[in-house]
Amino acid sequence: MKLSKAWRLGMKDMQQILPPHRHRGQLKKPTWIIVLVSLVCMFLVVSYIHPPQTSSSCYIFSTSTCQTFSSWLPPLFRELRDDEIASSVVIKNLLNMPPIESKSPKIAFMFLSVGSLPFEKLWDMFFQGHEGRFSIYIHASKDKPVHTSRYFVNREIRSGKVEWGTVSMVDAEKRLLANALKDLDNQHFVLLSDSCVPLRDFDYVYNYLMYTNISFIDSFTDPGPHGSGRYSQHMLPEVEKKFFRKGAQWFTMKRQHAVIVMADNLYYTKFREYCKPGMDGVNCYADEHYLPTFFHMHNPNGVANWSVTHVDWSERKWHPKSYEKKDISKELLKNITSITESVHVTSEERKETMIMPCMWNGMNRPCYLFARKFLPETLDSMIELFSNYTTKA
Ligand SMILES: *[C@@H]1O[C@H](CO)[C@@H](O)[C@H](O)[C@H]1NC(C)=O
Ligand SMILES: *[C@@H]1O[C@H](CO)[C@@H](O)[C@H](O)[C@H]1NC(C)=O
Ligand SMILES: *[C@@H]1O[C@H](CO)[C@@H](O)[C@H](O)[C@H]1NC(C)=O
Ligand SMILES: *[C@@H]1O[C@H](CO)[C@@H](O)[C@H](O)[C@H]1NC(C)=O
Repeated sequence: MKLSKAWRLGMKDMQQILPPHRHRGQLKKPTWIIVLVSLVCMFLVVSYIHPPQTSSSCYIFSTSTCQTFSSWLPPLFRELRDDEIASSVVIKNLLNMPPIESKSPKIAFMFLSVGSLPFEKLWDMFFQGHEGRFSIYIHASKDKPVHTSRYFVNREIRSGKVEWGTVSMVDAEKRLLANALKDLDNQHFVLLSDSCVPLRDFDYVYNYLMYTNISFIDSFTDPGPHGSGRYSQHMLPEVEKKFFRKGAQWFTMKRQHAVIVMADNLYYTKFREYCKPGMDGVNCYADEHYLPTFFHMHNPNGVANWSVTHVDWSERKWHPKSYEKKDISKELLKNITSITESVHVTSEERKETMIMPCMWNGMNRPCYLFARKFLPETLDSMIELFSNYTTKA
């Protein structure tokens, strides 16, 4: 609004300052240039201080011209509020602290489930022989799980209700992280669902996650209705639309990042209040936007931007493909484990596809360690194939 007012003022000034055509002769040439240059400067200064926040406020340009125009401007100076300054120093300090030394570093496997985990037997094969290098946490939101693997017995944490699409999903993730952080040996944290299966053997997964300094958090810009279309202006001033990101919720996170998530209340609250089903008439899902946006704002180079959990969206339906017993073959698993590029597709009409090589410590590597969504009926086939498909990549 301020921009357009300033512009209109500018126009009015211009009419006053610039004499009508017939009087041009009265104004000497240099004066002309000075006036013009000052007007352009004034306009730039005003737009710099009060950048257009909605496309409606820049009606003087077509929307796309307006966006192009505002992207020319240098990064915007905005005076941070007290809680933003506090948040920013806490995050910066945590990022600069050396990681906690551990004599027996472990990976925390955090399972988010409704009740029993259908793939416990498969995970049991995965964990066997690696005692002391992993710990398991289960958040069973509804039913008490029945265990088929000794590694999973008594690993449930106190859980809360999880309603699909609401912030309660993020709350469950935070509850798992908090419990897993209690063990100082846990250095990397993996979030998994009850339909997830391992794609590699334990050593491969351990080395992949431990010997890198990034978190595998999925994050991309989706200008479409299922991306930025879910953004609410209520998130201002802390979360600007240009920072809004989307990504699958299945992350792996280094300890430092897990602590930062625990420390955050400011951005969490913004997403809890303004990214929810039915917000401003659209359905926003905090579990798909909070962490991607938060880390994009505070540590963009600390996250890989893809998730190490594979999922097949190629059918372009509301839900990803669920693998049935008849789908399981050595070839399918070979196909998934040989993928070395991550693919993101935007939700606009033109469905733009973005392909990015999966870079691990500067090397192009296979992207995936885990996969979903596997139906319980695939368990026996997966067990039969496990040692085959995990042996050689
Ligand atoms: C990760 O380590 C590499 C060198 O091994 C370094 O260049 C990079 O800045 C580090 N990244 C982060 C987020 O610490
Ligand atoms: C992830 O994407 C952001 C831009 O959104 C970029 O700045 C960052 O470097 C990317 N991370 C890696 C590890 O490439
Ligand atoms: C595996 O990939 C090949 C080559 O892209 C494809 O032709 C084949 O159908 C895939 N098989 C399965 C089971 O997905
Ligand atoms: C596993 O691999 C071995 C040798 O590569 C092969 O003989 C066997 O048939 C495979 N098993 C299955 C279930 O594919």
